Amino acid sequence: MPLSDVKTAITSVVRRLFTKPPMAAAVDLHNKTVIVTGTSPGSIGYETAKTLAAWGAHVVITTRSKTEACVQQLKSELQRDGFPHAIDGHSLDLTHAESVESFVEWFNHTINEPLHILINNAGVHSDILGSWTEPHLSDDGFEIHWRTNYMGAMHLTHRLLNRLEQAGTKMEPARVVFVASHLHQKGLNSEIFHPSRPYSSWLIYGQSKLGLVHAAFELQRRYGSRNIQSYVLHPGSIATNIAIKGLETNKRVQKLLQIVNPLQMLFMLSPLQGAQTQIYCATQPGLRGGRYFDRCAAAPASPEADNVLVAKRLWDETEQWIESLSEQQQSEIEKTMASTA
Ligand SMILES: NC(=O)c1ccc[n+]([C@@H]2O[C@H](COP(=O)([O-])OP(=O)(O)OC[C@H]3O[C@@H](n4cnc5c(N)ncnc54)[C@H](OP(=O)(O)O)[C@@H]3O)[C@@H](O)[C@H]2O)c1
Repeated sequence: MPLSDVKTAITSVVRRLFTKPPMAAAVDLHNKTVIVTGTSPGSIGYETAKTLAAWGAHVVITTRSKTEACVQQLKSELQRDGFPHAIDGHSLDLTHAESVESFVEWFNHTINEPLHILINNAGVHSDILGSWTEPHLSDDGFEIHWRTNYMGAMHLTHRLLNRLEQAGTKMEPARVVFVASHLHQKGLNSEIFHPSRPYSSWLIYGQSKLGLVHAAFELQRRYGSRNIQSYVLHPGSIATNIAIKGLETNKRVQKLLQIVNPLQMLFMLSPLQGAQTQIYCATQPGLRGGRYFDRCAAAPASPEADNVLVAKRLWDETEQWIESLSEQQQSEIEKTMASTA
């Protein structure tokens, strides 16, 4: 581990031990509809969904599997505590374009309300020990962290932009919230279009989060005057499932972490504490977008994120990829129709 990472880890532990993490102030969210991706129990998405529903929002959640069980768990916890519990859910796998398309189709046909807030929270870091020497690829051939954390989130966002634009007003713009990480500082603009560093899952995780910072800033530049505000944030160092899942390839260390997992709470944030900055960005009245947030306050992002030309090119190329998905889908439909005619 580089010395800078050790320093960051120590700073975060000291901060956790000696300062109280900020909590977002409650906001009335009745008549607001929110999508939160990646809400499996134990995650910050779960706590985000629960708080927003408790404040009155209609919350649509996603997980890759067991979505209905997650909906029921959230509803029963909210009901038990005497809160509103308007929760719906649908499965979503960001690495499969057809899953994103079918989620959006379901949402457009089922949820006949304006979409006020989209929280792109789902993400992975699948190699916590940094033992992969070669990229692991998604089914469609992209590096898995980049595909999930950046491309999948962008695919979903693009497909929902018209719904958000319809819901936003000058007084109350719609919001898109991207959950990045302070590790976006490991990302480099020079690596986005022509990667040349030796493979490291930590670097590409950081790269995927730098992609989200660029996306949030570019979305603000393109849609800020069209009544959408966009935010990107570091949630903190939080004891969730991400590290356990990231140890899939080393079952012994994974088992050990599962045993000591409750102890992590001593020096890491709880999922509820870790959810606060995204809840703040999603709800704080009048909050200006186009900025990076940490601990419920605006904070400096990596200087790499200042490069507007890179952000523009990345957005344009991502948009072209998303458009190519529609063309592929259309040609598959035509092929199926031709073969059944
Ligand atoms: N925990 C931290 O210290 C920390 C620090 C910085 C940033 N973050 C970011 O915070 C976000 C939430 O992470 P977390 O810590 O709450 O982790 P988590 O407990 O592992 O939750 C991640 C959620 O994302 C979902 N997900 C994973 N792959 C997906 C895919 N291909 N398609 C759709 N959903 C998928 C997971 O679903 P499954 O249950 O099906 O896997 C889960 O619901 C992530 O973006 C992460 O990068 C976390």
